[in-house]
Amino acid sequence: MALRPKLIEVQSIGSSEIGYLSVLQGEYLPFKPLRIYWTYFTPNHVERGAHAHRQLEQLIVAVAGEIKIKIETRSGEKSEYIMDNPSKVLYIPRMCWRTLEFSHDAVLLCVASMEYNEEDYIRKYEDFNKQ
Ligand code: TYD
Repeated sequence: MALRPKLIEVQSIGSSEIGYLSVLQGEYLPFKPLRIYWTYFTPNHVERGAHAHRQLEQLIVAVAGEIKIKIETRSGEKSEYIMDNPSKVLYIPRMCWRTLEFSHDAVLLCVASMEYNEEDYIRKYEDFNKQ
């Protein structure tokens, strides 16, 4: 998989009468999930993230609210994603510097390719830039 984020628009199954369901499975999953975590009640003036991962790959969904995700790749490409619908999934490959801002009601769901390991983090931008 190229070291580039990718926004995946997943089909919404259902209708406004009964509600919707979205699913990613099989070949549409870019890695085998080994961890799921979620974040919530983030005040909207707080910027989270500000790190990269050496090996971790992630799929991110705003299951509620709105999340702005800014990404910079190792080659310096910058992109910004407004996650404002639960049918949008953002794939973040390894070695991407990311920052996130949340609406207060936002709930971020992350499906990750590895278990938590602090050694996988690059927390200083200077270290990310010189890797
Ligand atoms: P972190 O990934 O640094 O989140 P953010 O960049 O949004 O602040 O995680 C915040 C804290 O939670 C940090 O102390 C590590 C801990 N943590 C775990 O223990 N397990 C996990 O799976 C994750 C994602 C974080």
